[in-house]
Amino acid sequence: MDNRIHNFNPGPATLPLPVLKKIQSTFLNYQNTGMSITEISHRSKAFDDVINDAKARTLRLLKIDDTYEVLFVQGGASLQFSMIPMNLLPDSKKADYINTGTWSTKAIKEANILNKQVSVAGSSEDKNFSYIPKDLNLSPDAAYVHITSNNTIKGTQWHEFPDTNGVPIISDMSSDILSRPLDMKPFGLIYAGAQKNLGPAGVCMVIIRKDLLEKVPDNLPSMLKYTTYSNKNSLYNTPPCFAIYTVQLVLEWLEDTIGGLENIHDMNIKKANLIYNLMSDEGFYRGTADPKSRSLMNVTFRLPSEDLEKRFVAEALENGMGGLKGHRSVGGCRASIYNACEMKSIETLVDFMKSFEQKNG
Ligand SMILES: Cc1ncc(COP(=O)(O)O)c(C=O)c1O
Repeated sequence: MDNRIHNFNPGPATLPLPVLKKIQSTFLNYQNTGMSITEISHRSKAFDDVINDAKARTLRLLKIDDTYEVLFVQGGASLQFSMIPMNLLPDSKKADYINTGTWSTKAIKEANILNKQVSVAGSSEDKNFSYIPKDLNLSPDAAYVHITSNNTIKGTQWHEFPDTNGVPIISDMSSDILSRPLDMKPFGLIYAGAQKNLGPAGVCMVIIRKDLLEKVPDNLPSMLKYTTYSNKNSLYNTPPCFAIYTVQLVLEWLEDTIGGLENIHDMNIKKANLIYNLMSDEGFYRGTADPKSRSLMNVTFRLPSEDLEKRFVAEALENGMGGLKGHRSVGGCRASIYNACEMKSIETLVDFMKSFEQKNG
């Protein structure tokens, strides 16, 4: 389809073209119901099949069994910053948080608003969050250790997870969920706003180990309680049906067309390396993240001047590549290359970067 651009948006982000086409072809009459998926009841068998298939595919992709529960919650990843301490951090306990940038800082802020005992057990703030800290001060009796597995704004990613000695890790995986194989054993809960690697905005996936559900206090508002979602198959109230349907199709694409997380990981490594290979400390393109902590999902870089950065983003757009401006809080440039970003988009970007450097370097 020639009128689609190469989309490097950080989120909402590009979706797999076969998924968009399937939505288009099923939009007016979903599975002979005579209705659109946006018009059918969330209590119908057709929608039940959607949600159950999405849950089953998630468990299969992560190679986990039903000791974990998959929930669909609204309020984005940002609501999870509050729900996690509300549900899983009793006042008698503390939680360790590792601060690796904007989103971890927000998670810490919300736990503090709730007057919970929060310990910042590691941070990379000293170097503007350009690396993943190894030096952690974890306590054995913490309720959980919270990390952000991929830092969308700073362009860093955890490549090995910390050894927490059995304390469950909780991870914000908004920008790298299902982008690589994951050993779920150390994780008590992972969560992700859908709009980067999973689907459209409007739904957040939460995968929680079932034993943690037993710790949820009774005296929380229903909509803020994980057990409300787990007891009702995420259908306590009207869920964002269209967003969940799209997530189901993305999961189907990942499992049946791509062939699972090992395959997508190989593709993601190849894609990221093509761009990172153009970067060096003294070069025209300078990566902002420490090379050992570089993200496979968000490639952040600077050019020799802000003026050149502006021209780079503008000329890229003229040439059919969008979304390359860095986050407004950090400036510079960023290519977000989630699962659905195709190799041909990366190759187009790399060719453009080479010719831009030749002209301006
Ligand atoms: C790592 C991370 N966590 C949390 C969020 C916030 O997500 P939401 O907008 O779904 O609340 C974002 C959004 O970009 C993110 O990248």
